[in-house]
Amino acid sequence: MKVTVVGSGYVGLVTGACLAEMGNHVLCMDLDERKIQVLREGGLPIHEPGLLEVVQRNVAAKRLEFTTDVDAAVRHGTLQFIAVGTPPDEDGSADLSHVVAAARAIGERMTDYKVIVDKSTVPVGTADRVREAVAQALAARGMELEFAVVSNPEFLKEGAAVEDFMRPDRIIVGGDDERALLLMRALYAPFVRSRDRLLVMDVRSAEFTKYAANAMLATRISFMNELALLAEKVGADIERVRLGMGSDPRIGYSFLYAGAGYGGSCFPKDVKALLHAAAVQGQALRVLDAVERANDQQKLVLVDKITARFGADLAGRVFALWGLAFKPGTDDMREAPSRVLVQQLLARGARVVAYDPVAMDEARRVFGDNPGIRYADSAAAALQDADALVLITEWREFKSPDFDALRTQLRQPVVFDGRNLFEPALMRAMGLEYHGIGRSAAAQPAGEGAAS
Ligand code: UDX
Repeated sequence: MKVTVVGSGYVGLVTGACLAEMGNHVLCMDLDERKIQVLREGGLPIHEPGLLEVVQRNVAAKRLEFTTDVDAAVRHGTLQFIAVGTPPDEDGSADLSHVVAAARAIGERMTDYKVIVDKSTVPVGTADRVREAVAQALAARGMELEFAVVSNPEFLKEGAAVEDFMRPDRIIVGGDDERALLLMRALYAPFVRSRDRLLVMDVRSAEFTKYAANAMLATRISFMNELALLAEKVGADIERVRLGMGSDPRIGYSFLYAGAGYGGSCFPKDVKALLHAAAVQGQALRVLDAVERANDQQKLVLVDKITARFGADLAGRVFALWGLAFKPGTDDMREAPSRVLVQQLLARGARVVAYDPVAMDEARRVFGDNPGIRYADSAAAALQDADALVLITEWREFKSPDFDALRTQLRQPVVFDGRNLFEPALMRAMGLEYHGIGRSAAAQPAGEGAAS
């Protein structure tokens, strides 16, 4: 099939490349000439494992092309995916101006039947606005052409996006145009092993599903983070509690990890947007409201632990920071808990020596020219003469550190683990003072924690 993807950012590129991989002829469009230039030169404007190979293979096979030419983009695909950004407005609502502009551009140029697919995360009712924008543009040209608008939210996880797209848990398609739905089913048939993984529903329910799913996941995380705070107080170990809870299939194990708060481009933005949409309807979302507030607070959990240990005035202290990205496998620092941590440490007079396997360039951009931050060449190099180690992203390469180096190179053998990457009993056995999230019981010298 001929597919156009408008917007060659994270979602657009993964969508375009993976659709090309299944034999479709895909044209990815972006107004950002630099981005398109990078792609044409065989590079990637983002870091995503496995994506470069898929892009290069399909470019070589001439199934994947890039353009800044809007006319060519509209001409190319019967399916027109809109995968442009929907950044939060000041009030938390999703800014739909790029989505509507893309729709208008299609309406201004189309000459035959098009299926416009909303791939960007957009609030309920956006498909109607897209339909309206296309219809208005057509009317302005005095044309009457058939078109359909379909909602097809993405559920990609950064760092696993190619895998998620190629082997999805489910694909959601919302719409009511029979021909469009048949085309969408045909497009996704190669990606679904069983037919019930493709859920077709009305457009509003499809739009809502995306927000509901992310809000649910964010809720699980905030819930566990709060339980972790309590676990510390009552002397329980949240990791053992997590295993005990997760073994109930109604609960399940995933997304129950307590940590330094959720970040990224989706959860914070989508939670805000859903809260805003609810407020517009005069509908309170009390649980989700608390989820958001709890997460803002959780981003301070490491600072709280550090000041409890070293005092509120951190002047002259140096902290080694392992990790900057909002999660492993990406250089993305949007809403990353590391931003709050660094800002708070600097504000209290401390200095930070940071290391991240891929996000240091991004960090330089985010933090700018700041004398309080230095970037180390390796995780080990960051430790030299730091007062303590603070881990905030659970990169695999941090999992089995040289414990002796930790003990000897830090000024004090203190480790703050914002992702519960390390085993408290092991840390203690290696002579390290360990502060995890909700793990006080496991750090006790007596009992199962010390023995296991
Ligand atoms: C998320 C959704 O998982 C995905 O379906 C949606 O399409 C986009 O948003 P992503 O933002 O890439 O994906 O990352 P994810 O792996 O979900 O993690 C989000 C944040 O939650 C990270 O900061 C992570 O550290 C945190 N997290 C996740 C926890 O704190 N605990 C957990 O148990 C899981």
